[in-house]
Amino acid sequence: MLQERVPDLSKLVEPDRVRREVYVDPGIFELEMQRIHERYWIYCGHESQVPKPGDYYAVQIGRQPMLMVRGADRKVHVLYNRCPHRGNMMCGDRHGNTGEFFRCSYHAWTFHHDGALRTIPMMDSGYAGTRFGPDNPDCSMKKAARIESYRGFVFASLAADGPTLVEFLGESKIAFDDMCDRAPEGEVEIVPNCFRVIQHSNWKIFLENQLDALHPSVTHQSTGRAAHEVEKQIAKRAKKGEAPLSYHMLSAFATVTIDKWDNFQTLNYPYGHCILTGYMGLRPQDPDTLAYDKIMIKAYGKKRFDEIVGVNIHHVLIYPGLSVQSPLQQLRAVRPLGVDRTLTEIWHFRLKGAPEPIYRRSLAYYNLVNSPSTLVNADDLENFWKIHQGLASEGGDWVSFGRHFGRDTEKSGVVETGPNMGTSEAPMRNQMKAWAQYMGNGR
Ligand code: FES
Ligand SMILES: [Fe+2]
Repeated sequence: MLQERVPDLSKLVEPDRVRREVYVDPGIFELEMQRIHERYWIYCGHESQVPKPGDYYAVQIGRQPMLMVRGADRKVHVLYNRCPHRGNMMCGDRHGNTGEFFRCSYHAWTFHHDGALRTIPMMDSGYAGTRFGPDNPDCSMKKAARIESYRGFVFASLAADGPTLVEFLGESKIAFDDMCDRAPEGEVEIVPNCFRVIQHSNWKIFLENQLDALHPSVTHQSTGRAAHEVEKQIAKRAKKGEAPLSYHMLSAFATVTIDKWDNFQTLNYPYGHCILTGYMGLRPQDPDTLAYDKIMIKAYGKKRFDEIVGVNIHHVLIYPGLSVQSPLQQLRAVRPLGVDRTLTEIWHFRLKGAPEPIYRRSLAYYNLVNSPSTLVNADDLENFWKIHQGLASEGGDWVSFGRHFGRDTEKSGVVETGPNMGTSEAPMRNQMKAWAQYMGNGR
């Protein structure tokens, strides 16, 4: 059995370090897919991706090709992308509109948007008296065991049991609240295209980097310094004495030094979710921001507005597959493809009811910091590949997560880093603690 081919799972994770096999063993990868990605809540997409009946998007959950589709009943369904007849994939495109029903390209069986069998050609002449027909559930497309959405963000679980979505998200649901609350209409709308990047590294390497506040000042220093130099030159020349905000998005990688990152805090929750507090100072008093503030105050009142824009989050990691930067409406979904191959989908959103320049700000961050063409992402991608190469070698057995180990405080199941320890490796410890629980329990 698979279990017998992989190392003893209980020996792989210690509170402050992890064995390298966790990242490079193909047997462990298969178990992770079974016990984590194909059991717990995985983000499929946003409801606004499929506005019309028949609209669908293909999405990978663990090793399973799935479809998120809008039904004629307006409900969003998540189905296995497989024909129940002979197994043909129902939709070969990444997204599109299937019309009033799905029609398999092999022998033309058709299915309703919820996967239920609609017709089999020549059903009576070919199948009368056999087990095949509309009453046999095996003749319908299989559905994800559970589908739930939170503020328009659709998740599916391929296991019939387990926590509800809201129980699973716990405090990390603030990622979606913070994003949506910043919209005057209380909702966001997806920008219906994304960057896709395949990283030649294990999926956990990406997640561990998301709340690693120690690396930006090192890995992204050259990018930040170059942007800061240009920012200063523009400021000197500009009439108002300031470079556009987009320069700040990059220069912050140099100007926010390690001691400043230490001022932030990490909050670490059950199921491996983590939050990094701190906001990059993206609330200037320029006319665009002031116009937005006015619309928000009209929509929510001053008191609620202050609460909304005062939410102090840099990053929320929703284990095992989502990284959200809510103040800038960015989201990255992680889709493991193999032990050393990981797809990330990089999406961004519009705040409904917000003026266009506020959207442009989100777009600038999307392009400058999160896109595959930016130096910031390239810096990280190079590290991810090099980390995987190092861990695949026999140059050492352990990965260390010891920074500020033993100095965390725990209150009602939430692990907080101590004061001035924002660069703690507590988020990585939290992720691996959850990983060991998922893998040990199998649920
Ligand atoms: S495989 Fe789909 S109809 Fe035959
Ligand atoms: Fe980075």
